[in-house]
Amino acid sequence: MSANVLEAIDLTRHYPIAQGFGKGKKVVKALNGVSFTLSAGKTLAVVGESGCGKSTLARQLTLIELPTAGSLLINNESVTDLSKSELKNLRTQVQMVFQNPYASLNPRQTIEYQLSEPLTIHTNLSRTEKKERAIDMMRQVGLRPEHALRYPHMFSGGQRQRVALARAMMLNPKIVIADEPTSALDVSIQAQVLNLFMDLQEQYHTAYVFISHNLSVVRHVAHDVMVMYLGKVVEYGSKETIFEHALHPYTKALLSAAPTLHGKTTQIKLAGELPSPLNLPTGCALHQRCPYATEQCAREEPALRSFAGRQIACHRVEEIA
Ligand SMILES: Nc1ncnc2c1ncn2[C@@H]1O[C@H](COP(=O)(O)OP(=O)(O)OP(=O)(O)O)[C@@H](O)[C@H]1O
Ligand SMILES: [Mg+2]
Repeated sequence: MSANVLEAIDLTRHYPIAQGFGKGKKVVKALNGVSFTLSAGKTLAVVGESGCGKSTLARQLTLIELPTAGSLLINNESVTDLSKSELKNLRTQVQMVFQNPYASLNPRQTIEYQLSEPLTIHTNLSRTEKKERAIDMMRQVGLRPEHALRYPHMFSGGQRQRVALARAMMLNPKIVIADEPTSALDVSIQAQVLNLFMDLQEQYHTAYVFISHNLSVVRHVAHDVMVMYLGKVVEYGSKETIFEHALHPYTKALLSAAPTLHGKTTQIKLAGELPSPLNLPTGCALHQRCPYATEQCAREEPALRSFAGRQIACHRVEEIA
């Protein structure tokens, strides 16, 4: 039995934006009530097209921002009830890896320094111990220890992402949130970095939230898959369920658009354009684009419910199945 390390309940993030003088405020509804659980050592992949709220979700999960509504439990502790020092402690449990490793690496510091830094901030280890651990982690991520005194620009893109992952792993976090970590890499390098993610997970039992728009990447790393559309979960289940037996019209459309997949799902094309999170449609957010939509879909928002071994938000799922 593995325990939940992360639980999101109705997690919501809205951004009020000024419209210019005298025009009042509008609200970008980036994340609109997302719920899921993640167990130790597992990978939840989050997929959905650009602007559906994936990075916004990542910022809530890593405590970079606090949600405007809903709750978030890390290691069964609710992040909203914590004191500053408790929050600081909890932050060590959740680390982040970004698409661009330059975003998390300091160009002016050596790799050894940057790997030791989290230990300097959060532990009382001696200089020698920190150095040993940094070197040890370099080995584990496939970097040569003799390169410890190099600077980020002296590494290739793939190596830099290894450094970023090594840095994220230094405090042995329970959870790593990876936002498109391989999207900027050459295809040949992507697989190596993905395998490194998986090796480290096996060794440390780390749980991952893995954000990617690349479905073949998701298929490689995920245990569970959560499909988002306009800040909401439309379908959520095991990798096998989502890839082999997708039921939500949006999931089917995503899978249809991916050239390398041969799932048993029927091909679907969505009509029209993605609506704006400034002005969400009534009812089901997909209804204007969905070939199965009825008048009920335009009027009533479908709740996420259990159906055929997954969670799905669709009024028409019985007919589609
Ligand atoms: N700080 C902010 N203020 C206002 N709007 C924001 C803010 N952050 C994100 N948004 C908006 O929220 C929506 C979701 O953005 P987000 O970056 O989470 O999407 P995403 O799924 O990560 O997209 P991509 O695949 O392109 O990375 C977008 O419409 C975006 O413009
Ligand atoms: Mg993003």
